[in-house]
Amino acid sequence: MSTQATGTIAVFGATGQQGGAVVDALLDRNATVRALVRDPQSDRARALADRGVELAAVRTDDPTSLSTALTAITAFYFMTPEANSLEEVETEIRIGTALVDAAVAARVPHVVFNSVFGADQESGVPHHDSKRTIEERLKRSGLRATMVRPTPFMEVMAPRLEHGEIVLSLPLPEDVAVKMISIRDIGRVAAALLLGLADAPSGAVELVGDELTGPQIAAAFGAHVRLPARYQPLPLSVLSNDLDRAMFRQFAKMSEHPSDLAAVRAIEPATLYLEEWIRSTAWTAPAQVADS
Ligand SMILES: NC(=O)c1ccc[n+]([C@@H]2O[C@H](COP(=O)([O-])OP(=O)(O)OC[C@H]3O[C@@H](n4cnc5c(N)ncnc54)[C@H](OP(=O)(O)O)[C@@H]3O)[C@@H](O)[C@H]2O)c1
Repeated sequence: MSTQATGTIAVFGATGQQGGAVVDALLDRNATVRALVRDPQSDRARALADRGVELAAVRTDDPTSLSTALTAITAFYFMTPEANSLEEVETEIRIGTALVDAAVAARVPHVVFNSVFGADQESGVPHHDSKRTIEERLKRSGLRATMVRPTPFMEVMAPRLEHGEIVLSLPLPEDVAVKMISIRDIGRVAAALLLGLADAPSGAVELVGDELTGPQIAAAFGAHVRLPARYQPLPLSVLSNDLDRAMFRQFAKMSEHPSDLAAVRAIEPATLYLEEWIRSTAWTAPAQVADS
């Protein structure tokens, strides 16, 4: 990879999946990375330090810790933690707001916010509308900001092996084309934007690497392991969480707005299609489900 002469890039969420992929992609390009972490002694934080990442201890309820951690940087990436209840949605908004305000206080030159696909519109999905709220605050902040809006992760497409057959079950009708992206590519696109190697002229980019129906997803996994495959649509009632039900109701409308698969590849040409992701991870069928 090429060497980039940039200043320090700050990353919030570096010990997690998406922030971790951002760090991987930045380090691949020899960037200097500062991770904002809750606990610098955690195993994951120490693993980052071992790879040359600078650690800044922060508390999201301590604005000074945040703005101090964001001083003298060229760009800042942040995501917001998973919310599984309305209370956690409030926490998510609080964390996102604190991070935007700290970036303003530290006069950060460029902020990349890891939002979610569809956040340009009110969705009725609490943990998507929370990201829209944070986007709005960022837009009003006067900071230069780019929104990256990931679609569902390829990593969550998890078929099982049942009587010698690959079976994928999702609470979605079989004719819905599901948008998806690999976590690796979320990191690569965000890193390219943070390093100024690419630009999103509209200020936002939907992160989508592939768009396939349930039967097509099942078939891609089946073809890889040379087994028959089928898709099993499930009713929304299998979901125990109101937020997830709202999200899958929204997912069912995904096909109404087909994605521009070329847009993300204009930033990261090697963005993986699902078939490539399956191959690149050397996916193997999970152990056969035992008969009950
Ligand atoms: N699953 C999907 O398909 C999908 C698709 C699009 C968007 N999303 C969104 O992606 C987000 C989750 O991203 P992820 O999977 O990358 O997260 P993750 O792996 O769960 O990591 C969460 C990160 O946030 C940090 N963190 C959590 N609470 C914190 C706090 N109070 N103060 C400081 N740091 C805190 C954690 O640090 P510690 O090491 O301190 O714990 C960790 O680095 C959610 O907002 C979700 O809605 C998910």
